Amino acid sequence: MANYLRKCIWVALVASSLFIISQFWLMRTYEDYEILFEDIKVPVILWWTPFTGNQGRLENCGQVKCYFTQNRNFVSHNLLSTILFYGSSIEFEDLPLPRRGSIDWGLLHEESPRNIPTLTSETALSLFNHSATFSRFSDVPLTLVDLDSEEDLIGTKYFVSLEKKNRLIREKQLAPFLYIQSNCETASMRDLYIKELMQYISIDSYGACLNNKKLPESLKRDHVSSLKDSEFLSLTSQYKFTLAFENAVCDDYITEKLWRPLMVGSVPVYYGSPSFKDWLPNKNSAVSVRDFAGPKELANFLLLLATDESRYREYISHKISRNLNERITNPRLRNALRNRDKSVPNEFGNYVQSFECLVCQRSFDNANSYIVNKEHYNCPLPVNPLTNTVDRSNFWVDEFIVGRCKAKLLAQLVLRNISIDRESFHQQLLTFNPERDC
Ligand SMILES: *[C@@H]1O[C@H](CO)[C@@H](O)[C@H](O)[C@H]1NC(C)=O
Ligand SMILES: *[C@@H]1O[C@H](CO)[C@@H](O)[C@H](O)[C@H]1NC(C)=O
Repeated sequence: MANYLRKCIWVALVASSLFIISQFWLMRTYEDYEILFEDIKVPVILWWTPFTGNQGRLENCGQVKCYFTQNRNFVSHNLLSTILFYGSSIEFEDLPLPRRGSIDWGLLHEESPRNIPTLTSETALSLFNHSATFSRFSDVPLTLVDLDSEEDLIGTKYFVSLEKKNRLIREKQLAPFLYIQSNCETASMRDLYIKELMQYISIDSYGACLNNKKLPESLKRDHVSSLKDSEFLSLTSQYKFTLAFENAVCDDYITEKLWRPLMVGSVPVYYGSPSFKDWLPNKNSAVSVRDFAGPKELANFLLLLATDESRYREYISHKISRNLNERITNPRLRNALRNRDKSVPNEFGNYVQSFECLVCQRSFDNANSYIVNKEHYNCPLPVNPLTNTVDRSNFWVDEFIVGRCKAKLLAQLVLRNISIDRESFHQQLLTFNPERDC
C-alpha cells in the first residue's frame, strides 16, 4: 500500500511539473510569436507544408527582403504575399481556403506525381502562380538537380574499360545489363517491359523487382538509394549497360537513374522523359527505349551494340574522348552546367532558396499574370510501354483520374471562396463520376 501511495505521489509530482514547464514554454513561444507578428514589415511568405525548419527567417533577396515562416498563424498577417507548397506534402483537403485574391501560391516539386497524382491536372496547376519543378519551363528548373558537374560526367574515377567489362562477363559471369529497382508497381509499368526484355537478353537484376541476383553484402539497401554511394557506383560501372527506367513519364523528369550510369560509363537504356536526349552529353550517350517498336527490336539492337566494340565506344565518348573539351558536345547541357553559379553548391536546399527569393522578388512587382501551366509539370495519363496505350489494369491510371476529380473540386472551392473540412471534401468527391466528369 505504501508503495502504491509513493507511486501516486511520484506520478502527481512529475505530471504537475510537466504541466508547469509546458505552460512556460507555451507562454514563451506565444510571446515570441506576438512580437514577431507585429514586427514584420516586409512581405510574408508562408510555407503551408512544413518544410524548411521551424524558425521564421528574415532573408535578403538581392535588393529586397522577405520574412519566411511555416507558422500558419501568419495566414492572417496583412503583409502575407505568397503561400508555398511542397508537392508531395500537399493535402487537398487541408488548404488555406478561402483564398484571398491577392495571395499567390507557389509549388515546389522535384519528384514525379507518384505522391500527388492531382498535380497532373492542369486545373490543379493553374491554382499556382510560381513553380520550381523538374521541368525546364518552370520558374526555377530542377531538371539537373541530381547532376553536380561536368567533372562527374567526364571523370574516370569509376570508369571500367571495355576490356575489363568483357573479362567480367567471361570470368565472373556478369550479364551485360544491370537492373536494380525496389519499387515495382509504377505508373510507367517499367517491370512489364523489362520482364519481356529478359526473354531476349541477359539482365542481372539485384533489386526487389524481377530479382535474379543477390545484392553483394557490401551493398545494403540504403546504399542503393543514394546517388553518389561509391559501392553502388562501382557495381554499376562493371556493366556495359544499365536499364534506366523512370517510375513515371513526365517531360524533363530525369533522375539519378540516368545520371548514375552516365557518371560511371555504363550506357543507359532509358525510358522516361520523352525529350531526355536534350540533356545527354553527346548525341549517342544512351539508348532510348522509345526508338524501338518493342522489347524484341530493342534487344536485337542491344545485342549488336554489346559486341560491336567501336560502336559501343561511341556511346561512352564522354569518358574516352582524347580531347577533354570534346567529351561533352551538347551545348544545352554544357552551358547549363558551365553557367551555374559555382559559389553555390548544387544542392537541393540551394534551389529551394532560389525559389524563395524569386517569389520574394515577384511579390514586389505588380504583375498579375503568373499562372503555372502544363509546361511546368507535364505528366500525361500513363500508358502501357508495350502497347503505348492507356491500360486500365494499371491502377495508376485511376489514381490520375481521381486526381483530376480532386483538382476539379478544389478549383470549384477556390472559385466559390469556400473552405471545407476533410470529411466534406471526400463526400463531395464521391459525387463526381470519374469517367464522365474528370
Ligand atoms: C495567381 O493565380 C490565381 C489563380 O490562377 C490568379 O487568379 C491570380 O491572378 C494570380 N496572381 C498573380 C499575381 O498572377
Ligand atoms: C472570401 O471569403 C473571405 C472570408 O470569408 C472574405 O473576407 C473575402 O472578402 C471573400 N472574397 C470574395 C472575393 O468573395
